[in-house]
Amino acid sequence: MSAQDTSLIHTAVREHYAGHARAGSSCCSPSDGAACCDNQLYSIDLLEGLPADVTGFTLGCGNPLDAAALQPGETVLDLGSGGGLDCFLAARQVGPAGRVLGVDMTPEMLARARAAAARLKFAQVEFRQGYLERLPVAANSVDAVISNCVINLAPDKSLVFREIARVLKPGGRVAVSDIVIAGEMPAALRDNPEAWSECLAGAIDWRDYARGLEQAGLVDVRVQPKSGTQPPAHEPYSALITARKAALDTAVIAPAAAEDQPAISELLQANALPTEDLATADVKFFVAKLGGRVVGVAGRQAAGAFGLLRSVAVAPEWRGRGLAAQLVQEVEAEAAARGVRQLYLLTTTAEAYFVERGYTRMERAGAPAEIQATAEFAGLCPDTGVCLTKAL
Ligand SMILES: C[S@@+](CC[C@H](N)C(=O)[O-])C[C@H]1O[C@@H](n2cnc3c(N)ncnc32)[C@H](O)[C@@H]1O
Repeated sequence: MSAQDTSLIHTAVREHYAGHARAGSSCCSPSDGAACCDNQLYSIDLLEGLPADVTGFTLGCGNPLDAAALQPGETVLDLGSGGGLDCFLAARQVGPAGRVLGVDMTPEMLARARAAAARLKFAQVEFRQGYLERLPVAANSVDAVISNCVINLAPDKSLVFREIARVLKPGGRVAVSDIVIAGEMPAALRDNPEAWSECLAGAIDWRDYARGLEQAGLVDVRVQPKSGTQPPAHEPYSALITARKAALDTAVIAPAAAEDQPAISELLQANALPTEDLATADVKFFVAKLGGRVVGVAGRQAAGAFGLLRSVAVAPEWRGRGLAAQLVQEVEAEAAARGVRQLYLLTTTAEAYFVERGYTRMERAGAPAEIQATAEFAGLCPDTGVCLTKAL
């Protein structure tokens, strides 16, 4: 999407919501019963004590607050805060010692929200003008990011996802209500300029939404339909999206990327594990990363219908945290998903470790020919290496 397209969408969306703010109307469009308009998003208990002009002005499509599980003293950021209802609900949960920031690009919305905050004496709530794609918020400063029916309106969602990951503290969490779709957006909606502002045309496939958050570095990403059941394909629907930014000392386990290769080789060499055949062997690696650094690795070498589990190594300072076990589990799950029914490995030091994880000892010479043909079996691993196997 070009900068011009982005600017056109921002302008159209801003004008649309400026109109809502001026009119005090809380429905995305008269024709839109499905997506943005929902007057029963919150329980009566949650809304109790707030005036009707505040509780009645919602342009959301769900209730992100329950999933956010806010605690007293926390800092919360609401993306696209609109009239401010979610910020005020959050403020009551984080209490006077907490802090709530609402970011919105529409001056008329900000004016409405700021006037309500002043009237209701929410001193811990602040509304800032800005774009989701370039948040006016410091890095690593927020315990929870919430948002209600806004990210679908952003032309470049990957920028928004990266901004969320940037502003969250390590261990911080995401709870977002938004419109998504399963499959392609029908052309009638996609090509209708009004439908973008009405929270429809900008909705993306829920799997792309999840992938976008993961690519931004977030973990434990879940996208659940608000209704509880998966709606039919090609129909926009409201979903609750949750995710987490890994804590500083929590490793993220993921398939290795091309740029991880030098760090993998270094870790294997430091652990006296073979790397000579890596350029030619067909090995699928998984890595454990902490703050972007590779601290653990395990791999599966393809060998016909079988798999060779190899290269299980964890940096000394990160041992004893179960990383090797998680990496082995990932390798086993990936192998099983690819139809591999039997894994083999050679080890000189970790027989007991693998036996505890369901591997059994066997004669090295009894491994199938495809496994015998791997460089590890053919000589890279010393004769003292014990052969173990596990059915998947
Ligand atoms: C559908 S309304 C939702 C408002 C509020 N979250 C609620 O639940 O009532 C969308 C809001 O997001 C704001 N918005 C949309 N796109 C934005 C962007 N890219 N950056 C900042 N604000 C945006 C609009 O100005 C509007 O106030």
